[in-house]
Amino acid sequence: MYDVISRTLDSLHVLLNEKYGDSLTGLISQALEYLAGQYSGMYDGGAPPEYSHDVIRYCYVYKYASCNAFSTHHLLASAERRLFEHREIRIACLGGGPGSDAIGALDYLKAQENIRKVEIDIWDLNEDWMATADTLIGNALHRSAPIEKEFRYMLFDARDPATWGGIDFGCYDLIISSYFLSEVGKRRLPQDIVRFWNKLLGEMKTGGLLGLIDNNNHSPEQIWSIVESHPRQYNVFSKATGILVYPEDEWSKMKRRYQDRFAHSPRRRLKVAGFLIEAH
Ligand SMILES: C[S@@+](CC[C@H](N)C(=O)[O-])C[C@H]1O[C@@H](n2cnc3c(N)ncnc32)[C@H](O)[C@@H]1O
Repeated sequence: MYDVISRTLDSLHVLLNEKYGDSLTGLISQALEYLAGQYSGMYDGGAPPEYSHDVIRYCYVYKYASCNAFSTHHLLASAERRLFEHREIRIACLGGGPGSDAIGALDYLKAQENIRKVEIDIWDLNEDWMATADTLIGNALHRSAPIEKEFRYMLFDARDPATWGGIDFGCYDLIISSYFLSEVGKRRLPQDIVRFWNKLLGEMKTGGLLGLIDNNNHSPEQIWSIVESHPRQYNVFSKATGILVYPEDEWSKMKRRYQDRFAHSPRRRLKVAGFLIEAH
């Protein structure tokens, strides 16, 4: 994952440097502070960050995408058996924005020589992430056997049923929700969000997987209770809460290389809750 993220950071840096010149260092430090402040405020009901500024998106890739990609990989690898037996896989990343979860899944798939084609649909509220996702995904999944990759970026707002009523969740082999819930769910999930999850669970194809990972706050447990009360049956491949640590070698390589640019480390320890289920 280090190579994918660092290639992306380097190409984004060239563009930002041309645009902001000497003021880039100050903007980076403001952006990192802004992101950390918004994320910690979300626990107390505050608003999630705005991702419309390109320096904020750049800092997100450094500080958060690296670790989040690892957590998606970890979630898939936590299943005790190989997950995909067919040659073509279609993946949806809900609130997939920058593509962190997509590259985590692609990293997991790298070892599966049976796979010949991967289609990735990122569903997100914010179209500003599209170029970042395109670059990250473009840089991912290098392996010796040829593989076809298709990537689409689609807009929806989980709080607005008019934007998701037409989504067909039944076409996906894997649906990922990575650090998405915490931005849309408050202590009590709004009814529209409950309807969203019920639709998704009802439509999942037989054998389709849902992987959800987020901060260990109220949100994952709320979705788990929707899963448990849903008439559909599932195999539970994993369900866990705990501390996830971004592997030392990747983390320190990233930190060493970018310390001068960010004066900050990428996120290392995550308090997570998540599950991976397969629909019957
Ligand atoms: C913390 S980021 C997580 C991005 C990525 N999944 C990851 O793991 O790094 C949350 C994402 O959810 C998106 N988002 C926030 N509210 C949303 C909503 N109501 N509907 C759809 N996407 C939303 C944001 O635009 C952002 O890309």
